[in-house]
Amino acid sequence: MHFIDRDDLHLDSVHFLLPDGLVKSPGRHKIGHPQKFRDGMTFPANLRLFIVRKENRFYALSAVCTHLGCTVKKNNSSHASLSPDLAIEFDCPCHGSKFNMDGVNFAGPAKKPLERYFLSLSPNDGQIVVDMEKNVDKNFSLRL
Ligand code: FES
Repeated sequence: MHFIDRDDLHLDSVHFLLPDGLVKSPGRHKIGHPQKFRDGMTFPANLRLFIVRKENRFYALSAVCTHLGCTVKKNNSSHASLSPDLAIEFDCPCHGSKFNMDGVNFAGPAKKPLERYFLSLSPNDGQIVVDMEKNVDKNFSLRL
C-alpha cells in the first residue's frame, strides 16, 4: 500500500528540525483531485496535515501536536492485526503523545485532539481545497 510520496517521506522524517519558513502558511490550499487519494492516509508534508480517506469520505487532520507543536508521525505497528484503515495512529516524537485515527489524544502530555480543517471541492477544477484557518469538529467530513 502506498500513501506517502517519496519526497514527502523525506521531508516528513526531518520536518520537526526545519524552520517554519519551509512549510506553507495556513490558509486555503488545493491538494489535488479526489481520485488522487486512496483509502487510508496521505501526508502532504509541506502543509503539516494528514488527509484521511474512508471510501467516499475525506477529512483533514493537523499534524501539529497539541502539546508543544512538533509534527506527529503515522504509526500503525501497534495494531497490525486490524485493517489498514483502523490501524492508523499518530505518535509525537518529542514527548510521546499519541492520537488515534480521528485525531483524539489518548496518551502522553497532549491534552487536546489534533485540529481538523474544513474541506471543500473547488467549483473551478474539482480539486479538494483545505482551509487551514477554518477548524471543524470531529463529525465533519467531505462526502462525495
Ligand atoms: S510536542 Fe508532542 S508530545 Fe510534546
